[in-house]
Amino acid sequence: MNPTQSSLRSVTGAGTGRRTTDGAGIPLMRIISSPDIGIIDPFLLLDEFGSADPGDYRGGFPDHPHRGFETVTYMLAGRMRHRDNHGHEGVIGPGGVQWMRAGRGLIHSEMPEQDAGWLRGFQLWVNLPAARKMDEPDYQEFSAAQIPEERRGNDCRIKVIAGTTSTGVAGAVTGVPTAPLYFDVHLNAGTRFEEALDPEANACVYVYQGSVRVAGSDGAATELKRGHLGKLGSGNAIQVTAGGEETRFLLLAARPLDEPIAWHGPFVMNTQEELRQAFEDFQSGKF
Ligand code: CO
Repeated sequence: MNPTQSSLRSVTGAGTGRRTTDGAGIPLMRIISSPDIGIIDPFLLLDEFGSADPGDYRGGFPDHPHRGFETVTYMLAGRMRHRDNHGHEGVIGPGGVQWMRAGRGLIHSEMPEQDAGWLRGFQLWVNLPAARKMDEPDYQEFSAAQIPEERRGNDCRIKVIAGTTSTGVAGAVTGVPTAPLYFDVHLNAGTRFEEALDPEANACVYVYQGSVRVAGSDGAATELKRGHLGKLGSGNAIQVTAGGEETRFLLLAARPLDEPIAWHGPFVMNTQEELRQAFEDFQSGKF
């Protein structure tokens, strides 16, 4: 990438999200959709969960419905069993990802497949455009070994879950309407990472280990510590430098939908009438 031809995306806002619980009382950090960060269209929600105490996670996320968007589970440690009411079932292991299009609706559970050790990962919600909200449910599932990894020298590794890197490494997940990029970037201390970004995409960085400095076009830089999400402003590239320790962050980008959002719990539609219909369909067993 030629820095003279790129305009770097600065951090325009940062936050740490909010501690909460979901499912059967699983403690987690709600990052996207928290009061200090809000949504980053089309990203509706980002949760980070992590505990080595089975008392925290044993209850899992029992049966619940979804309609109108996609849920993306990315495990860092531990194993989660997924089961839906259409007969789809599987286990997401460490480093594995499940990109689930809830579409017109399903009921599923996400339960820990272990009673000891770390359970750690992320769940991201990606909105669907109005024309695709009632698509049939669909899954893309990949183990850690099936997710392409790009190495840049000895100090930078990129797990390419979705999207394509500037050198042409294509992610495992394809065919998502909002053309998302989902990279898990690992940097050794002090290493610089540069990447082109679609200028039309909304983008953010979430640091889950170590710290980074995100350069801006004006020569200034913003530090993001562990647990901080930085929203990125306009531009066509990002430049991130790891702090003094091994650092890991998620880089997320996608085309915004710019559509009205009617959201209640596990249903995300465009209008109140569609929300009402979602409740009615769920209650009458049409999921
Ligand atoms: Co769910």
